[in-house]
Amino acid sequence: MTKTLLVTGGAGYIGSHVVVELVRAGYCPVIVDNFCNSSPRAIQRVEHLVGQAIPVVRADVRDSTAMLRVFKDAQDSGQPISGVIHLAGLKAVGESVTKPLTYYENNVYGTVKLLDAMDQAGVASIVFSSSATIYGAPEHLPYTEGHRVSPVNPYGHSKAICEQVLKDWSICGGGRRAVALRYFNPIGADHSGLIGEDPRGVPNNLFPYITQVAVGRRQYLTLHGNDYKTPDGTGVRDYIHVTDLAVGHVRAVEFTQNQQGFTAVNLGTGQGTSVLQLVEAFEKATGQQILCKIGPRRQGDIAGAWADVSLARELLGWKAQRTITEMCADGWRWQSMNPEGYGQEV
Ligand code: NAD
Ligand code: UD1
Repeated sequence: MTKTLLVTGGAGYIGSHVVVELVRAGYCPVIVDNFCNSSPRAIQRVEHLVGQAIPVVRADVRDSTAMLRVFKDAQDSGQPISGVIHLAGLKAVGESVTKPLTYYENNVYGTVKLLDAMDQAGVASIVFSSSATIYGAPEHLPYTEGHRVSPVNPYGHSKAICEQVLKDWSICGGGRRAVALRYFNPIGADHSGLIGEDPRGVPNNLFPYITQVAVGRRQYLTLHGNDYKTPDGTGVRDYIHVTDLAVGHVRAVEFTQNQQGFTAVNLGTGQGTSVLQLVEAFEKATGQQILCKIGPRRQGDIAGAWADVSLARELLGWKAQRTITEMCADGWRWQSMNPEGYGQEV
């Protein structure tokens, strides 16, 4: 029987790519999303891409009644949900500093309520969207999963608390199991160009800013500092193609079938790329020129961050496949085919 999986936040940037890879791997995803940071049009695009309808429920993961109904409806239709991939959450670091309670309520309380609904429905397996941001300032690089957890903003704390909640929940027995995937910097888009990242307002992150400069929505990119102790002075990060990241979720679901308790795994490439190197790679891959101006460092930024990816290979049998050039070319395909993102298309 085809396995049915609940994907919370499945209309979002990463969730939409996860849904595509789940279908490609033979799973039946059911999406729950409240669309607070996404568009239903993303799901229409996913359906077009995979050539099948995807069940979607507009609901908030904090709404126990709605969540229990999702589990029950799936059970009653003969396609019981066997596991959950929990991506629903808020992710803007700056906003989390000004609205910390909103972040704790959505991310932490949302996770607690979801686990409670899973318990009531008898669903024991969860894969969770965590973040490398929980490590904070690096004691050593690459970050291993055993690195100290020391987040520096409410968003990061909310993810670290969720991991603790998952750990405590999963060791209660009853076959409960949780995998926290600590994402590094997902960029790019599905190769089709049909789905991609569509941030609301001014992008906080580097890659969507670059693509918006290229498409003419922004005049220039500000380099947040060029005096770091890195080879060219700009910040170094571990960029990972969002499709590779999505495939990592499929492997994590497979992994949960044979494990108990809690496991945290880094998802990155293990390679560091500087801001200037990413700009250069983008220009080379796309033929677009990106005007850059040097600005001050961004508060809270670190010089460099990249992953030790050996655990993902060992436990999940997963390794990122796609190059920086592919990340740039695929991300540009999405942006150039959809200059205003999902926009007002019906
Ligand atoms: P996104 O905002 O595009 O997707 C999140 C989705 O969750 C959106 O569709 C939103 O509408 C939905 N959502 C939020 N709160 C909800 C709630 N209470 N109930 C139901 N739906 C809700 O973000 P993304 O980039 O796809 O990130 C997905 C997850 O991965 C988030 O949890 C984020 O914190 C985490 N993450 C993202 C990154 C990144 O760089 N994008 C890095 C590390 C971790
Ligand atoms: C940021 C978040 C992190 C989150 C991650 C999600 C902060 C401090 N950190 O991390 O918590 O998990 O996004 O992917 O917000 N840059 C520029 N100009 C820009 C934008 C970024 O030079 O307009 C630089 C940054 O200084 C950094 C690099 O580009 O060196 C990457 O930035 P970004 O994409 O925001 O990712 P992170 O800083 O790794």
